Amino acid sequence: MVKWEERVVRLHMISCSNCEMSLDIQILKALRNSAEGAVSGADLSEELGVSRAAIWARIQELRSLGYEIEAGPHTGYKLLNSPDALHAEDLVSRLGKTRVIGRDIQVFQETTSTNDVIEKLARDGVEEGAVVFAESQSKGRGRLGRKWLSPAGKGLWFSILLRPKLAPQQATMLTVASATAVRRAIEKQTEMKAEIKWPNDILVNGRKVAGILTELNAELDRVKYVIVGIGVDVNLNQTDFPADLRKSATSLKSALGHPICRPELAVAILGELDEDYSRIATGEFSMVADEWEKHCSTLGRDVRIRIGERQIRGCAESLGEDGALLVRTEHGRLERIVGGDLEIEKS
Ligand code: BTN
Repeated sequence: MVKWEERVVRLHMISCSNCEMSLDIQILKALRNSAEGAVSGADLSEELGVSRAAIWARIQELRSLGYEIEAGPHTGYKLLNSPDALHAEDLVSRLGKTRVIGRDIQVFQETTSTNDVIEKLARDGVEEGAVVFAESQSKGRGRLGRKWLSPAGKGLWFSILLRPKLAPQQATMLTVASATAVRRAIEKQTEMKAEIKWPNDILVNGRKVAGILTELNAELDRVKYVIVGIGVDVNLNQTDFPADLRKSATSLKSALGHPICRPELAVAILGELDEDYSRIATGEFSMVADEWEKHCSTLGRDVRIRIGERQIRGCAESLGEDGALLVRTEHGRLERIVGGDLEIEKS
């Protein structure tokens, strides 16, 4: 049994819903949205319905968390710089209103695996859309029982709780949606071309920068909940990876040559996922699937897929209606593949 409660240290945890915002979120939001670049204490106090002294106290608290906020007697408060650390209030303020994803955001300094934390929330009946980030994970896990390296402050390690109205065999749609969302966010934030390797690795320059672990809890005919765990290697150095991964994995910082703002990338991913998840809910999965196919480096390639003891060889033809990979085998049969370890055959 995972005793995550004993292992996590709360960094600056709050429960935020899109409608009940804490004062910090509202202050950060007002500073970010101000057209003039600065907001006076009097305006903040009036807008947020609290005293100027209360605003000043929160500004001091935000400064202690690393927010550079200038206070000028004539100009008011101006946000000069935000820390790269993940803070729940900051993420909520940057994300703005979403349909589902990010209704509740929590940030932990350390946990075993954010998937474990979300699992506990799911069993406690928490609403879908909850997101848990950790600055580091002591037992981060990847697909097929592999370990997932999660060093402190260098990546995005987070999980999302979903309660979709889907049959278990349709859950692959969520993997497809998560991969398209992560890919799009990376491309928009870095302006580097990113592609998808089936089922849900995100590659830049042919090397893996992000992976997704989807865990399902279902009855025979309906999904109870799904945990989407996303790991993005943002600001790792090449030497942070174990020697055996250095050729196949990279970070956005290594690929770009400079670090990336993690909170900005985090909310970009959540925003994109909110879009794609709502497409599934409204029966528009084909739009997501088309985008996945367009950016998938696996399609059209000869592949070898290991599923437990079984091995399938063939050509990856397309994506099925439910998100499965359709592979034309060497014997001419079309196989529907929902999981496994895929390698591209060398031509
Ligand atoms: C893979 O490519 O094998 C999937 C990697 C998924 C890693 C993320 S990090 C956040 C979440 N917590 C985990 O323990 N794993 C996922």
